[in-house]
Amino acid sequence: MVGKAADGKATAVACANIAFIKYWGRKDDALRLPLNASISMNLDRATTTTTVAFDPALERDEVVIEGMASGVEAVGRVSAHLDRVRGLAGITTRARVASRNSFPAGAGIASSASAFAALSAAGIAAAGVAMDERGLTVLARLGSGSAARSIPAGFVEWYAGDRSEDSYAEQIAAPDHWDLCDLIALVQTGHKEVASTRGHALVESSPFADARLAAAERALPVVRDALLARDFDVFGEETELEAIRMHAVAMSSRPSVIYWSPATLAIMLAVREARADGVGAYFTIDAGANVHVLCREDDAADLDTRLRAVPGVLDVLVNRPGPGIQWVSGHLI
Ligand code: DP6
Repeated sequence: MVGKAADGKATAVACANIAFIKYWGRKDDALRLPLNASISMNLDRATTTTTVAFDPALERDEVVIEGMASGVEAVGRVSAHLDRVRGLAGITTRARVASRNSFPAGAGIASSASAFAALSAAGIAAAGVAMDERGLTVLARLGSGSAARSIPAGFVEWYAGDRSEDSYAEQIAAPDHWDLCDLIALVQTGHKEVASTRGHALVESSPFADARLAAAERALPVVRDALLARDFDVFGEETELEAIRMHAVAMSSRPSVIYWSPATLAIMLAVREARADGVGAYFTIDAGANVHVLCREDDAADLDTRLRAVPGVLDVLVNRPGPGIQWVSGHLI
């Protein structure tokens, strides 16, 4: 797998992903080596498109997201990642970066996973660096851990690894393996949350960190096998419990982090009520207040109606298993 090398400019599209077994906590911050392996699904309707254009005339990297010049902090993280690409290419040329998301700005689902996956893929292609898929997942991981899982298509596992080259992601099933839907119930727009980068750093201050880690390690093969066997109830039960454990760690960290809003809890209860009514639905929640409701195609319409009726739900975005990284010719700059 290599992006087309072309006149210093390339564009890539990456999906965000939702983790069933979460990456929460790291054993190496600089290398972004996670405490545990994780499993996720790419989200077909939540994509980031990024163009990287190296230009010898530039004195520093320029980053434009949704048409707006980024602040120092965002540019710093993008520049640090481009330095990795420049290191691989043996160049020092600065770049112009432009990025757009398919999801509404401020919907609270802005994703570092799709952002760093697209930046990595566009970056290596623009710099003319040849790389296989595994190598690209390692590069993306260094920018944002969960970005490693947005490189392969469909359902993906990210192995924890003890060395950088062994902490990579790989497909465990293609997008058409299962008709799983992720209904994202949006409850907040634009609210500034505690960044997941900070959440990872707090994990060890929770007295429940070791218990959650052991439980996640036990749950991972169960989730993988249930996914491969399309056993929805085993898959859903394990996935829902893993999300609750992750949030229990965040809530019990010092300082404590509560990502949920009242509407988050209302949706969690509505999902359980739907289940009691015979609808196949389970929830998972990332480092934010929005709730990802997992179901199969046959239950999606019913659940969509139920979720929209929960007070505080602003919108429901329906996602299905998405593709892996793609290079496209439509540049943003
Ligand atoms: C809760 O990948 O955003 O979404 O490596 O610091 O960029 P950084 O963290 P990030 O963490 C994702 C946390 C999560 C769970 C998951 O996606 O596995």
